[in-house]
Amino acid sequence: MNLWYTFFGDYMLIDTHCHLLSEDYDNIDEIITEALVDGIQLLVINGYNRETNEEAIRLAKKYEKVYAAIGYGPAEVGNISDNDLVVLEKQLQELKVIAVGEIGLDYYWYKDNKLEQIKIFRKQIKLAKKYNKPIIVHCREAIKDTYNALKEENIKKIRGIMHCYSSSLEMAYQFIKLGMLIGVGGVITFKNTKLGNVIKEIPLEYIVLETDAPYLTPEPYRGQKNKPAYLKIIANKIAELKQLEIDTIINQTGLNALELFDLKDKI
Ligand code: NI
Repeated sequence: MNLWYTFFGDYMLIDTHCHLLSEDYDNIDEIITEALVDGIQLLVINGYNRETNEEAIRLAKKYEKVYAAIGYGPAEVGNISDNDLVVLEKQLQELKVIAVGEIGLDYYWYKDNKLEQIKIFRKQIKLAKKYNKPIIVHCREAIKDTYNALKEENIKKIRGIMHCYSSSLEMAYQFIKLGMLIGVGGVITFKNTKLGNVIKEIPLEYIVLETDAPYLTPEPYRGQKNKPAYLKIIANKIAELKQLEIDTIINQTGLNALELFDLKDKI
C-alpha cells in the first residue's frame, strides 16, 4: 500500500460499467466477491431493461460496494410503455441507484427506429435531470445524434459517461465540453485498435474505467467471459500509453467516478 492509498483510503479502483446479471452468469456472488477481494472498491452494475434494472437494484442492496445504474437501452425502445418510464422514475429514488444508464442510441443494430430511440433517450435524460443523476451513455454509429441530444438537453449539471468511447479525439473533446467523461474499457487492449492514440491525448481528469463485463474482455483473456477483476489490465494499459504509474491512473479515474456519482463524501 502506498501513501496515496493511505491518504485517500483504499477505494479508488472503480468499475463504472458492468452487467453482472443472471442471464450471463450463474455465479454472480462469486464474481462480485472475487472482484472486491481483488482490489475493486466499487462496482456500478448497469441495467438496460425491466428485468436487469430490478436485478441491478437487488444486488446493490445486497452488497455495500455495489451500486446500480438503471435505464432502458436502445434495444428496448420498441418494448417499453409509458408505465415503464413511471416504474423507472420510482426506481430512481432508491438509495443505491446512482445513475441513469445504460441509455443511448444504437444505429448499428437498430436502424429502423432512430426517431423513437432519440425520443426515449431524451425522456430518460429528462428524468436524470429531475433526480439529479448522471447518465451512462451507449452510442454506436450514432455519434452526431447522441451529441445533439446531449447538447439540446444541456446535461452540464448532471454530467455523465460516454461508455466504451470509440470515436475521435475531436469528438471526445466535444463531449467533455458538454460535461461528459470518457469511459475506457477492454477495447484499449485489443491489438488492432487505434483507440490508444485517442485515449493517450485525453487528460486523465476526464477518464473513468469500466469493464462492460461480460462483454469486451481485455487481452490476454479476449474470447473468455469478462469480469470486473480484469479492470486492472485496463488501468495498466492506460498507464503504459500515458507513461504514468498505474496508481496514478487508478486514483485519478477513481476520484473522477466518485465525484461524478456524488459519492466522494459518502464512502
Ligand atoms: Ni454496457
